[in-house]
Amino acid sequence: METIIAPSILSADFSKLGSEIEMINKSEAQWIHVDIMDGMFVPNITFGPWIVRTLKKITDKVLDVHLMVEKPDRFFEDFRNAGADILTVHYEACTHLHRSIQKIKSLGMKAGVSVNPHIGVNFLEDIIPYVDLVLIMSVNPGFGGQKFIESSYSKIERLKELISIKNLSTLIEVDGGVSLENAVTLIGSGANVLVSGNAIFRSENPLKYINDLAELG
Ligand code: DX5
Ligand code: ZN
Repeated sequence: METIIAPSILSADFSKLGSEIEMINKSEAQWIHVDIMDGMFVPNITFGPWIVRTLKKITDKVLDVHLMVEKPDRFFEDFRNAGADILTVHYEACTHLHRSIQKIKSLGMKAGVSVNPHIGVNFLEDIIPYVDLVLIMSVNPGFGGQKFIESSYSKIERLKELISIKNLSTLIEVDGGVSLENAVTLIGSGANVLVSGNAIFRSENPLKYINDLAELG
């Protein structure tokens, strides 16, 4: 399957958000990745459902919302009403993960689960059949522009194996430190969706950078 590119708007220039989104609209990116941080689950605060509502008005791309939030269930309806297509919650933030996933789906969105770098994919074995995607954090969540953690490759390979054994079509998304340097190896390891922030928006030509990533797979 074709690799999906999901530019992370965390690294976009918010003084010209409209033109940044126009650029993504013209690109081969299929999704836009939106990082929601609450200052509790991660040591940083970003934005709330209003940003999704704003994006929905100016793009037809899939809005891929990554909730780095404690007790995320409180906000599912708000994000659905704002126009989120996919909601991903953190394994570490959900005491009743199965219930949370069911709730996201019952609201009509696709559901994902994410794991921090210290959590092995074996913990996901029983939830994989219920999710549309697994998001592997390849940096510690909280900030853009961090260095990719190398052990993420083998983690993706193990996850891919787990998904194949179960005969499922769960997508593997990778987030953190993704660039043209490591994208080929990530795709080879089994990644289906590449989130990239800093590498895209700090490049000389972000549109070309997105399309170069898209051409790899
Ligand atoms: C980090 C976020 C990422 C971040 C990725 O906590 O979840 O989505 O925006 O940015 P880069 O590609 O700069 O590591
Ligand atoms: Zn993210």
